[in-house]
Amino acid sequence: MTHRELRKKFEEFWKSKNHREVPPISLIPQDDSTTLFTGSGMQQLVVYLLGEPHPLGRRLYNIQPCFRSQDILEVGDNRHTTFFEMMGNWSLGDYFKKEQLNWFWDFLTKVLGFEKERLYVTIFEGDPENKLSHDFESKKIWKEIGVGNDHIFSYGPSKNWWSRAGEPAKMPEGEPGGPDSEVFYDFGVKRKIHERSPFRNLPCHPNCDCGRFLEIGNSVFMEYKKTKNGFEELPAKNVDFGGGLERILAALNDEPDIFLSDVYLPIIKALESITLTKYEEAENKQKLRIIADHLKATVFLIKAGIYPSNKERGYYLRRLLRRVAVKIYQLTAKTAEVKELLFVVEKILEIYKHLYFQDKDLTSIAEVIREEIHRFNKTLKKGMTLLLNLNNPAGKKIFDLYQSYGFPKELSEEILRERGLTFSQVEFDKEFEKHRQLSRKLSAGVFRGGLADHSEKTIKYHTATHLLHQALFDVLGESVRQEGSHITGERLRFDFFSLVKPDEEKIKKIEAIINEKIKKELPVYFVFLDREEAFRIGARALFREKYPERVKVYYIGPSLETAYSKEFCGGPHVQNTREIEPIKIFKWEKIGTNIYRIYAGNTKKLEE
Ligand code: ALA
Repeated sequence: MTHRELRKKFEEFWKSKNHREVPPISLIPQDDSTTLFTGSGMQQLVVYLLGEPHPLGRRLYNIQPCFRSQDILEVGDNRHTTFFEMMGNWSLGDYFKKEQLNWFWDFLTKVLGFEKERLYVTIFEGDPENKLSHDFESKKIWKEIGVGNDHIFSYGPSKNWWSRAGEPAKMPEGEPGGPDSEVFYDFGVKRKIHERSPFRNLPCHPNCDCGRFLEIGNSVFMEYKKTKNGFEELPAKNVDFGGGLERILAALNDEPDIFLSDVYLPIIKALESITLTKYEEAENKQKLRIIADHLKATVFLIKAGIYPSNKERGYYLRRLLRRVAVKIYQLTAKTAEVKELLFVVEKILEIYKHLYFQDKDLTSIAEVIREEIHRFNKTLKKGMTLLLNLNNPAGKKIFDLYQSYGFPKELSEEILRERGLTFSQVEFDKEFEKHRQLSRKLSAGVFRGGLADHSEKTIKYHTATHLLHQALFDVLGESVRQEGSHITGERLRFDFFSLVKPDEEKIKKIEAIINEKIKKELPVYFVFLDREEAFRIGARALFREKYPERVKVYYIGPSLETAYSKEFCGGPHVQNTREIEPIKIFKWEKIGTNIYRIYAGNTKKLEE
């Protein structure tokens, strides 16, 4: 089956069950201090899972591009990638376990034609420490569906509980989560992969890592929220389902290597031709998979508006691209030619043509790749030679490699690891400290991608962000365009494009407008509107975002007609602007051509 056929079947199936499509969001989640990247389909639904009503109703589905930075070092085997598409469906307090498990089973066996014997399911066996009970209900449902006892396995919270932060103990307060039930495909029957696996003498099971089983779908029963006093029930019992498109495709084709499906094969083929290597040869396979995944992720990240940099998202993009360059160098003993890389990029755009890309995207994506690779290629050879001759790697040397040769720390670490060497992180960090002009945040710790508290502070700053957004239009005019928003309990940060340059005086004016609106004690409301109607009344939207037919619009002011700010947004917000308290813009800077960044908060605290 092709990926396009699979998409169509998935959409038709959920539509036939009265679900509506929520368009996928950007890989950069907006107004969310939680994660740097969209890593699952539910990312845009967190506030609705917590209880806000959704404009499209209570049954939703979509296919969401995702990037999981934490999986970067897992890439190279038959199934792990940083970029993937998640097929999802949701019940926001509508149906629950029985419908979900029956429907997903019908989709797999009736629509896609999977043999029942090849499917295994898992359920949550409880977590006494957190007073969470065994999910006997799901077990009963699976049995009623006809799944044999020998095909049902129970696991604890590390495997069968899902939240964005992982198992119950790792969740921050305010985060929703719940027990889940996964479905696995068994490749072992025909291919006998388990006979080659190191686990062949052990009784294999769905969550075993030997490669025989592949998880193809996860139904999360989102019914809890973590609080100070343990777990509390959410206002409604929700379903959050996600299944990797690439994995379902692999299972459908009974081919455990996802890189051989039609969302990767043209990329692998193009890479074989530019590196003059063969994928089938074991020593190349892992590198070609890493390059294929990273280049694809790169293309999607650039399309989302990310540029390579030394911080946060941009740093990830840089790491991916430079790792591609190093892997190509390792395969060919030559630096990558930009023109050859762009030949591969063209194949990526072709795979997703009309889904996520148009032909014209090639130019802007190519420009970013060209600049980054061109720059890194200048120092790549020297840096590699240094790394390959380093016998006693000190943290300071690794820092120099970063500083002078552009080798991200993690990349040097990987190359040294291949030679069986390590270096002192502490020493590296010390060197780093010395170079204050580079943000300390570059060190790995920053990418923890902590989770959003919907705490009072972040809600306040979210409403303040709407005021700032409108005030920017008031002062800088109509060319203003939101580029990004990031909120923590300490401050808000807002990136925007503007043809009119801000200056000190204009920034003061913007700050004064925000404070005037706060002082006026304006109420904050929302309405559900048809998308076109929302655009017609001038609600501010993100230009890169695709919105559903019906949207939620938050407005600040006594009525929609007279509101000061109107914006497409899921919420939540304060009820009255007085709750925000006076705001200070404590820093602003230029971060790109016509792109600026503002930091603001209640106190003059410089926590970037
Ligand atoms: N949100 C769930 C996951 O990512 C479905 O696995």
